Amino acid sequence: MFGLVNVDCLDRGMKAWIPVETFSRTNRVVHHLSAVLFIGALFLMAYDQIFGSTDALMVHQSLGVMVFVLYFGRIVLMAWFGKPKAIGTRFEQFLAHLAHLALYSVLILMPLSGLSLNIAGGEETAIFGLLTIPSFDEVNLDVYLLMLGFHKSMQWVCYMLLSAHIGASVFHHFVLKDATLKRMFGAIK
Ligand code: HEM
Ligand code: HEM
Repeated sequence: MFGLVNVDCLDRGMKAWIPVETFSRTNRVVHHLSAVLFIGALFLMAYDQIFGSTDALMVHQSLGVMVFVLYFGRIVLMAWFGKPKAIGTRFEQFLAHLAHLALYSVLILMPLSGLSLNIAGGEETAIFGLLTIPSFDEVNLDVYLLMLGFHKSMQWVCYMLLSAHIGASVFHHFVLKDATLKRMFGAIK
């Protein structure tokens, strides 16, 4: 039931690995922040598809770039604070591990493909009007269309993964009545 955490061994001046049972506060904050930004980015594009809004696309891109930045923060935090293993049998832990890998994949692939389609398509990416990521001067239509197709079709993978992820959290909490959800929301210290 334990994961690992990286701590300083002051007496020996080196790192050691000890078990952790809960997510660190920083890990939890970064999970919640990236979850809100990711769901926000999806929601804005659903809004854009129904009502048509260029503002929605601009905010969408800014949220997406923040997800991209947080992704790396998350990797560093996991290496530093460690993270606990999923609750359940070894098979359930294996399934949870696969599901988390898939979530990590969309967390990086969605922003990367979005950024690539802008760069190849000759469109600058303005992040909340504060910072601009430039594009290539020359449009590369092949790369643009490839990334656009990928970005658009991956949205369905995102919807499926998120439904399964949120569904599994609710199932753990209300049916199995274990600490999976409480642990992620800090109710267990
Ligand atoms: C209402 C929304 C959400 C809820 C209730 C939720 C709940 C949880 C819970 C309870 C865990 C811990 C699982 C365990 O202990 O094994 C977890 C982990 C995780 N969640 Fe979510 N989640 C939500 C949204 C998201 C979103 C939108 C993403 C990314 C697209 C995401 C990505 C992850 C990842 C990668 C983990 C693995 C642990 C980590 O590295 O931090 N979650 N989530
Ligand atoms: C959290 C990460 C992201 C998610 C979940 C996401 C999701 C989506 C979705 C669902 C669409 C609608 C596709 C359709 O019309 O069928 C879309 C479109 C788009 N996204 Fe993203 N995206 C993300 C990040 C980004 C980033 C970082 C950029 C650019 C910097 C970006 C640029 C675009 C553009 C330009 C479109 C419009 C494509 C078009 O119809 O011409 N996205 N995105």
